[in-house]
Amino acid sequence: MSSGASFYLTTPIFYPSDVPHIGHGYTEVAADVLTRWHRQAGDDTWLLTGTDEHGQKMLRTATANDMTPGEWADKLVQSSWLPLLDTLDIANDDFIRTTQERHETSAQAFLQKLYDDGFIYTGDYEGFYCVGCEEYKQSSELVEGTGPFEGQRVCAIHSKPVELLHERNYFFRMSEFQGRLLALYEERPDFVQPESARNEVVSFVKQGLADLSISRSSFDWGIQVPWDPSHVVYVWFDALLNYITAVGYGRDDEQFARRWPGIQLVGKDILRFHAVIWPAMLMAAGLEVPKHVFAHGWLLVGGEKMSKSKLTGIAPTQITDVFGSDAFRYYFMRAITFGQDGSFSWEDLSARYQAELANGFGNLASRVLAMVARYFEGRVPEPGGYEAADEAIQRTVAAAAQDADAAIERFAINEALGAVWTIVEELNGYITEQAPWVLAKDPARRERLGTVLYTATEGLRALAVLLSPVIPQATAKLWTALGAEPQLGPLAEQRIRAAGEWGQLPAGATVGALVALFPRIEQEIGASA
Ligand code: ME8
Ligand code: MG
Repeated sequence: MSSGASFYLTTPIFYPSDVPHIGHGYTEVAADVLTRWHRQAGDDTWLLTGTDEHGQKMLRTATANDMTPGEWADKLVQSSWLPLLDTLDIANDDFIRTTQERHETSAQAFLQKLYDDGFIYTGDYEGFYCVGCEEYKQSSELVEGTGPFEGQRVCAIHSKPVELLHERNYFFRMSEFQGRLLALYEERPDFVQPESARNEVVSFVKQGLADLSISRSSFDWGIQVPWDPSHVVYVWFDALLNYITAVGYGRDDEQFARRWPGIQLVGKDILRFHAVIWPAMLMAAGLEVPKHVFAHGWLLVGGEKMSKSKLTGIAPTQITDVFGSDAFRYYFMRAITFGQDGSFSWEDLSARYQAELANGFGNLASRVLAMVARYFEGRVPEPGGYEAADEAIQRTVAAAAQDADAAIERFAINEALGAVWTIVEELNGYITEQAPWVLAKDPARRERLGTVLYTATEGLRALAVLLSPVIPQATAKLWTALGAEPQLGPLAEQRIRAAGEWGQLPAGATVGALVALFPRIEQEIGASA
């Protein structure tokens, strides 16, 4: 067991009604970068992801494909959702499916407790339902339809008509939690992040909360309501519970105490479920609310949210087959301010790949190691006396490591990468200025040559550690080429919060050749899009 602070992070659990696109990949990568960072910082880290398999959307998609929803979920999870994790190099600790026994029994225990404690009653409801969102909508939330739906009111997210439903259901007394929720947002301003998301949630809750319909009796694809088998649990009520059922709620008290409360990372489309309904459910059950709910922005296509239902989804493999998983991870974490929307473009991806990964970082690493090989028989040289330029690099490394860690604490992943990249930029400038190939021609400057190449190599050591949460494959190759493992141990065990301390790579380490970390892309970009 790790001695560090508990860091338990979750992604949304996705509907396996269809295959994943790069929007889902984006969430997975962000969650993985954050958890890899904390794991390397020595925190007691756990990353949960999974699939949300009940509800009408799943039922209808399966039926349209002549399968039962269970069969459809199995097929999509095996063929697409688990492979997504390999495609993007996601080091998740668990994968929950809401059809698993462990989830169903713990979810039922939670519901029964709320029922026994008087938070659930029977009532009638009539309203507009969006199956895409699996949510009742207020008329004020609907917009005018276009194209085939002209003249109709449609869901603002899915652009499809809503259905008028009338049901006699079980209700959760959510309205009782308005005051406690507002107090929570007030007392813990970082509970909902970023600030724009917090503001939206606060003004929504200030308008007043209705009770929430939490069961359905018109279909049976869901978890049975424990005291009334003619109803199944509303899919969102069921799905939100995954964050606690996966870590032992109602089954394994020790694991639950160790992990909970966690942090919920979601897309802004599902912010209200996580920042309003979810903490109200937890309060009702007498459990702690999450440490934070962070809502990231949308990947846009033509100014609109990329989506499966609008057929604007790009498969993650379209990018990774050409550029590799490291480039996918780097690009989305670097190019988009985390918490804001961003547009994907093949041109931008390709330009950053070439300029930042191949020319900026990859070339730096291979040039430095090639010079150590050529001038010092492949042994990391002993540094002589440090000069101002060398000390400037040491300061850059120390500041970058500190700034990056502080940025990760604030979920500012793109800022963290920007901070680390100052090392790449400074080292490239340093090499140009110090011109080791000139020093190498003068035997009297041999000690200076050693200092310069030591500085550059030790800078690469820090870069490997600081970039390993983002580009794990390239940094693993670099770690091997630096000959660092026999001296310092595996890359994954390097303490990231100490990465800025100078002089860790010992002189004498044997470096190897480094193949191009980010090779030239021959294929015409976007050809497969
Ligand atoms: O909502 N840009 O599942 P879902 C960025 N099952 N992220 C995007 C995106 C885009 N264009 N499109 C999707 C559900 N995402 C529920 C969640 S949680 C208890 C239940 C990502 O399959 C983003 O994380 O519709 C978004 O919140 C999520 O996929 C929605 O996935
Ligand atoms: Mg959705």
